Amino acid sequence: MQVAIDGPASAGKSTVAKIVANKLSFVYIDTGAMYRACTLIARDHDLEYGNEKGILAAIDEDGIKLEPGEKGQKVIVAGKDVSLEIRTPEITAHVSEVSALPGVRAKMVDLQRQLAGSTNVIMDGRDIGTTVLPKADVKIFLVASARSRAERRMLDWQEKGIEAKQSLEEIEADISKRDYLDSHREISPLKKADDAIEIDSTHMTIDQVVDAILTEIKKKQK
Ligand code: CDP
Ligand code: CDP
Repeated sequence: MQVAIDGPASAGKSTVAKIVANKLSFVYIDTGAMYRACTLIARDHDLEYGNEKGILAAIDEDGIKLEPGEKGQKVIVAGKDVSLEIRTPEITAHVSEVSALPGVRAKMVDLQRQLAGSTNVIMDGRDIGTTVLPKADVKIFLVASARSRAERRMLDWQEKGIEAKQSLEEIEADISKRDYLDSHREISPLKKADDAIEIDSTHMTIDQVVDAILTEIKKKQK
C-alpha cells in the first residue's frame, strides 16, 4: 500500500504522516527533508543555490541518508545527523530555489522511489501523488489557510527551540512566497493530483486529520 500526502508548507503533512505511519507500521518518508538536505549541502559547500552541477556533485560527495529515529525520521548528511539544522529559517528561505533544479529533482525522485520499494509506505511532499508515486493507493492533498499555517510554524519552532527572528506576518509572507514558487516551477509543481482527496485542516485538530486519512486507507484495504 502506498499513501501520498501532498500540500503547501506547514499544512501538517509530516505531523499526520508520522502518526499514521506509526499506527499502521508503514515506512514514513519525508521528501521535503531531502530537498532541505540538498540546500544545506549547497550552503556548506559555499555554492550558489542555482549552481545545479556543483550541487549535484556535492550531493554525491556527501550523500543523503534517511534513518528511522525516535522522533520519526533522521536525516544524515556526510555521516552527520542534520535533522534539526535543515529546519532553520536560513535553509527554509532557499529550499524552493534548490528544489526547482531539474537535476536535483531527478536525483531525489529516484532516491524516493528506491526508498519506497515495495513496502507499505506513506510519503509526504509536493509531487508525490503526481510524479513520485502516481499509482499510490491513497492520495491526500492537505491544505489550510496561510495564516493558520504561519501560526503552526511559529509554534513548531518554539517547541523545537528554533529561534524565530520573524513576526507572524513575516512567516506568513515567507510561506506564501514559497507556495507560489513551489506551485509555479516548471518541473513537478505543487498541484493536487486529479484523483487526490482534498482535506482542509484549517479548523481541524491533528487527530481529526489523522482519522480522516485512516478512513481513506481503510476503504482501500477492504
Ligand atoms: O515543512 P515544510 O512544509 O515547510 O516544507 P517541506 O515539506 O520540508 O519542503 C521544503 C521544500 O522542499 C518545499 O518548499 C519545496 O520547495 C521542496 N519540496 C519539493 O519540491 N518537493 C517535494 N516532494 C517536497 C518538498
Ligand atoms: O509537513 P508540513 O510542513 O505540512 O507541516 P508540519 O511540519 O507537520 O507542521 C505542522 C504544524 O502544525 C505542527 O507543529 C503540528 O503540530 C501543527 N498542526 C497540524 O499539523 N495539524 C493540525 N490540524 C493542527 C496543527
